[in-house]
Amino acid sequence: MSFQKAALILATVFLVLVPSSRAADFANCANETAIGEFSKVEVSNCDDSQAACVLKRNSNATISITFTSSEDLTELKAVVHGIILGMEVPFKLPNDDGCNGSGLNCPLTKDTSYRYTTTLPVLKQYPKVSVEVKWELKSGDKDVVCVLIPAKIQ
Ligand SMILES: *[C@@H]1O[C@H](CO)[C@@H](O)[C@H](O)[C@H]1NC(C)=O
Ligand SMILES: *[C@@H]1O[C@H](CO)[C@@H](O)[C@H](O)[C@H]1NC(C)=O
Ligand SMILES: *[C@@H]1O[C@H](CO)[C@@H](O)[C@H](O)[C@H]1NC(C)=O
Repeated sequence: MSFQKAALILATVFLVLVPSSRAADFANCANETAIGEFSKVEVSNCDDSQAACVLKRNSNATISITFTSSEDLTELKAVVHGIILGMEVPFKLPNDDGCNGSGLNCPLTKDTSYRYTTTLPVLKQYPKVSVEVKWELKSGDKDVVCVLIPAKIQ
């Protein structure tokens, strides 16, 4: 392949990708076995232009994930990890039940858009580090969605 051709293909790929690059800030970490997909992720005090969401210590962050599932769901559980230097550390949520107190009424119907919302306490003893927050919503052992949220604890 000539250099010009390669450059043209790269430029095309780039042009196609750029309009969605904001959404790509919240990367999908689900594999092909996931039964749902997310369409929108919102983090309090974090707009799309920020490379990483600032999580202020001694505060509560609000996280919302709008998603659809390809199966009806009777249960939904949040499993959250922080990835720091490649290590996954579990984040404890005050409420990991997606069906209770998270804005949803279960059972959930397939192919319907739902908005899950919860609170993530950012404890004052957390270290000031950059962390990737891996947020999974699971039903039984199945991943419904998995979102990576780039964050900085300050
Ligand atoms: C896909 O992800 C699920 C949930 O994290 C995990 O249990 C499963 O082992 C993964 N499957 C493959 C093929 O990687
Ligand atoms: C975070 O929310 C919890 C539960 O609503 C509340 O008890 C706590 O005081 C809040 N923490 C801060 C720092 O606002
Ligand atoms: C929902 O959450 C509230 C508060 O955490 C708890 O008291 C209640 O038992 C829960 N309901 C169910 C059905 O789990």
